[in-house]
Amino acid sequence: MELKVNGQLQRLPEHASDPAMPLLWALRDGLDLTGTKFGCGVAACGACTVQVDGEARRSCVTPLSSVVGRTITTIEGLGPDHVLQQAWVAHQVPQCGYCQSGMLMAAAALLRKNRQPSDAEIDAAITNLCRCGTYPRVRAAIHAAAAQLAGAKA
Ligand code: FES
Ligand code: FES
Repeated sequence: MELKVNGQLQRLPEHASDPAMPLLWALRDGLDLTGTKFGCGVAACGACTVQVDGEARRSCVTPLSSVVGRTITTIEGLGPDHVLQQAWVAHQVPQCGYCQSGMLMAAAALLRKNRQPSDAEIDAAITNLCRCGTYPRVRAAIHAAAAQLAGAKA
């Protein structure tokens, strides 16, 4: 089985090719993309968030069969130069860091659709959980990234 991940067609090893296997397992155990985290396994926390065709998806409950031929992006594909990653550093968003790759992927998916989200829109769109309580910093960093993107366009 092959998946298009971070711009490259990647062949999954035999042990990570069951069509019913959650995408999260294949990414971590099949492709060694360990930036995406396991939290709850039941679509509740968002630690496993990746993008499928630009939309935020919880990979722990996404079967491989549903993403063959689609475009998958993980935190490794977002890259350290991404405006959100830079805003995350500037605002010192991560605390323990465990939830943050999922947060970033959800934030990137939001900014693709809404270039100037309000706090309420951020809260509605990003339902990822953070046990360290970084929500105010997440909002501030998204606003900073949105402002930078708006400035770059002007
Ligand atoms: S590990 Fe997927 S939502 Fe928690
Ligand atoms: S930074 Fe620790 S869980 Fe979010």
